[in-house]
Amino acid sequence: MRMSPVFACLALGLALIFGEGSASYQPQSAVASLATDFGVKVFQQVVRASKDRNVVFSPYGVASVLAMLQLTTGGETRQQIQEAMQFKIEEKGMAPAFHRLYKELMGPWNKDEISTADAIFVQRDLELVHGFMPNFFRLFRTTVKQVDFSEVERARFIVNDWVKRHTKGMISDLLGEGAVDQLTRLVLVNALYFNGQWKMPFPESNTHHRLFHKSDGSTISVPMMAQTNKFNYTEFTTPDGRYYDILELPYHGNTLSMLIAAPYEKEVPLSALTSILDAELISQWKGNMTRLTRLLVLPKFSLETEIDLRRPLENLGMTDMFRPSQADFSSFSDQEFLYVSQALQKVKIEVNESGTLASSSTALVVSARMAPEEIIMDRPFLFVVRHNPTGERGPERPRHSRRPLPILLDSGTIQAGVDAPTSPKRTPGSESRLCSPSTSWRGVLFLQTGCSSVPQFQLSH
Ligand SMILES: *[C@@H]1O[C@H](CO)[C@@H](O)[C@H](O)[C@H]1NC(C)=O
Ligand SMILES: *[C@@H]1O[C@H](CO)[C@@H](O)[C@H](O)[C@H]1NC(C)=O
Ligand SMILES: *[C@@H]1O[C@H](CO)[C@@H](O)[C@H](O)[C@H]1NC(C)=O
Repeated sequence: MRMSPVFACLALGLALIFGEGSASYQPQSAVASLATDFGVKVFQQVVRASKDRNVVFSPYGVASVLAMLQLTTGGETRQQIQEAMQFKIEEKGMAPAFHRLYKELMGPWNKDEISTADAIFVQRDLELVHGFMPNFFRLFRTTVKQVDFSEVERARFIVNDWVKRHTKGMISDLLGEGAVDQLTRLVLVNALYFNGQWKMPFPESNTHHRLFHKSDGSTISVPMMAQTNKFNYTEFTTPDGRYYDILELPYHGNTLSMLIAAPYEKEVPLSALTSILDAELISQWKGNMTRLTRLLVLPKFSLETEIDLRRPLENLGMTDMFRPSQADFSSFSDQEFLYVSQALQKVKIEVNESGTLASSSTALVVSARMAPEEIIMDRPFLFVVRHNPTGERGPERPRHSRRPLPILLDSGTIQAGVDAPTSPKRTPGSESRLCSPSTSWRGVLFLQTGCSSVPQFQLSH
């Protein structure tokens, strides 16, 4: 039986959702399958984009950060996420089910070690929508962490350090230089760590170099582990009639397994499987297995991938959140226009004779958009300097009194650009000295302060 690392890794991510226990509880198994379906849909997009390359991916991580993102968004932006995920996190029972699922994954009955955590980092002085923090806590049991993103390097360190601690050091540099900047307002992160020992370890003496057949037809020699044992095994066919094998490799705690699947014929591309995958199909695999003696040969591998999730998420219809002019974060803060500036996932995995060690971290970075439109005065323009208080109508003024006219301290036109700061011009009869504006190149106006006397002024109508 040939094995593909691509599939082995996917199976790991899925196994993390489908513990044996989760089938016993209705609501959370519904959540598990919705979250898995969503994660798998993103995975399919990722695989499609990384043709013939090895991919490791955490479906749970991406479902987790997008569930949190739902709560921060509004309008069409939120609707697009809910449509892609097929659930609304605020719907009754959803968040508790998510939480139970999370506790089940983390439970001590999983002798294999899994830990996963979510975090939300918010710009300290950003005014949030009333009730956001308690609501977030109620749904996700995670307190909002406040950081100061204007101290860019320190903020990046805080987020990366949190990820490092929650992946036992496996992922120490989630956000690279430049991922966080002065405009960052919110970072949503999920971290996942998994360390599982095979229930039936591969004897180290059986590991030898063998040929692995790549999808382009070429071969490569890689170390492959081997063991003969009684495995849970089944065969299925794809809707277009291709046979494929599925085999289960349980971890020693018995609640987690890696499911491995590959088309029976070498010529059939793996996409025949990845394109039909969903939570339902995976539970059918598990339900149809029988114990059979097989010789299993599986590559020993370690892999590290970094995935930009933007395209995959956009391809699933979640486009508005990435568009500065369309994103709606009105459930989070209405102080500024915000959008998702980055969506990424880093995964590391090592599969060897004794088991699997894996970590993933998924992050969404939400930033304020810069000045919405540029206004560049690179053509002739007029300017006036107006003393605002003199033009204001006081509430105590009699109703019929004439509205006072604002005093204009200076006015001018810039027609041809100004290439050097000009010193204030003395016009005959004018006392204007320091209050004259000086202009510099491209009409940027510097009004000099500290004028001792009010110079000539004009009244405007
Ligand atoms: C095979 O599947 C059954 C039912 O899910 C499970 O109890 C058993 O532990 C599995 N055995 C192996 C070797 O995977
Ligand atoms: C076994 O697979 C078939 C499809 O091949 C499916 O209809 C059936 O529900 C599966 N059995 C279980 C227990 O999942
Ligand atoms: C497998 O990998 C783990 C984690 O790196 C390591 O602790 C263990 O010794 C390795 N086992 C073998 C047999 O190489």
